[in-house]
Amino acid sequence: MPLKETTPALRQLKGRHNLVGAEIGIYRGANAGFYLKELDIKLVSLIDPYVGYGNYSPVKVGLKHFEEAEKLAHEKLRNYERRIMWVKKKSSEAVKFIDDNSLDFIYIDGNHSHDSVAEDVTLYYPKLKMGGLLAGHDYDIETVRKAVDDFVIAQNLYLHKENGAGMAGKYDWWVWKEKRNG
Ligand SMILES: C[S@@+](CC[C@H](N)C(=O)[O-])C[C@H]1O[C@@H](n2cnc3c(N)ncnc32)[C@H](O)[C@@H]1O
Repeated sequence: MPLKETTPALRQLKGRHNLVGAEIGIYRGANAGFYLKELDIKLVSLIDPYVGYGNYSPVKVGLKHFEEAEKLAHEKLRNYERRIMWVKKKSSEAVKFIDDNSLDFIYIDGNHSHDSVAEDVTLYYPKLKMGGLLAGHDYDIETVRKAVDDFVIAQNLYLHKENGAGMAGKYDWWVWKEKRNG
């Protein structure tokens, strides 16, 4: 389902200022277009290798599909360029260039396989400032849910979830970084 508005997790950041964050998995930039308009974002790293993955491998959909998506994302977000850092890498590579305790939010919507989501939450959680938001899309997908649930239990965090009005059938999940886990 295409998004119609800023997702429930990122809406939690309304009222906060000068936010610095990252999104994993940008595709055509629909989600970024909403939160860049609605939130007070100072800088967001938009991380996507645009090379295909899983069921969307270049063999199945063609590399051109991802070249198109990248082009559309740049066109869609051109008014926000000064607040965007484009990072054309896999999330596991991009994370090496991000300092620990430096981000206000991270939104995960990249490769939805269990192992990729498990890797993303594990690698990116330390990058959050205390009180920062770790969130993602598609909690209704089993592989995502299992990876998120295991992480949340291991870290003893409180998991929030919401099925947003603009995202029929697509659940957001989120946790706040807490002191005892920092
Ligand atoms: C579901 S789409 C993202 C949609 C976007 N968040 C939105 O709502 O507008 C998934 C994207 O994740 C990207 N992706 C796949 N594996 C990735 C990885 N390891 N790191 C970063 N992005 C990845 C894909 O290229 C694809 O563009």
